[in-house]
Amino acid sequence: MRVSWPELLEAIGSCEKCGLCERRTHVVPGEGDPHARLMFIGEGPGQEEDRQGRPFVGPSGELLTRMIHAIGMERSEVYICNIVKCRPPMNRNPMPEEAAACLGYLRAQFALVRPQVVVLLGKVACQYTVKDQVFITRDHGRWYQQKGVWFMPTYHPSALLRDPAKKREAWEDFQKIKQKLNELAGAGEGER
Ligand code: URA
Repeated sequence: MRVSWPELLEAIGSCEKCGLCERRTHVVPGEGDPHARLMFIGEGPGQEEDRQGRPFVGPSGELLTRMIHAIGMERSEVYICNIVKCRPPMNRNPMPEEAAACLGYLRAQFALVRPQVVVLLGKVACQYTVKDQVFITRDHGRWYQQKGVWFMPTYHPSALLRDPAKKREAWEDFQKIKQKLNELAGAGEGER
């Protein structure tokens, strides 16, 4: 799907491709710099995201925002989105058919943003992008390169809220993300 941002946002906003549309308050397409070097992909909107129509604005979003600040960046400098754009009931994982229905939108976002580095927040984000067999405890912080883009799985912020002992490892992952962005900028790949 090669579309413009307005066409894409219109398509996402009126989407009825799966049953998740029936209960949504707002679609949550994603937000941030439309040409960001760094993109974050989560799982799907939670209650607060559904209420506001913005990604990662609830408790896990507050933590993600702090982690973005910790590497010297602002939310407005990155692009943040999810595998599915409508809230799964009771925050359950998206079903494969819901993710499949929504993936075209993520691909279109990816093609428009053209990030250099993509951070996959949790297992669901990995499962539908780089790899279907990812164990976050084992694979977090590893780089996967696909077609010149660097992908890194890390803990979903809600997992860090449930188990704060993991924050240290996540912090180290974020330092690697910062290093990678610096390296790419140093190699002249930071120009957009
Ligand atoms: N969890 C996600 O995966 N995405 C959000 O936008 C909020 C919480």
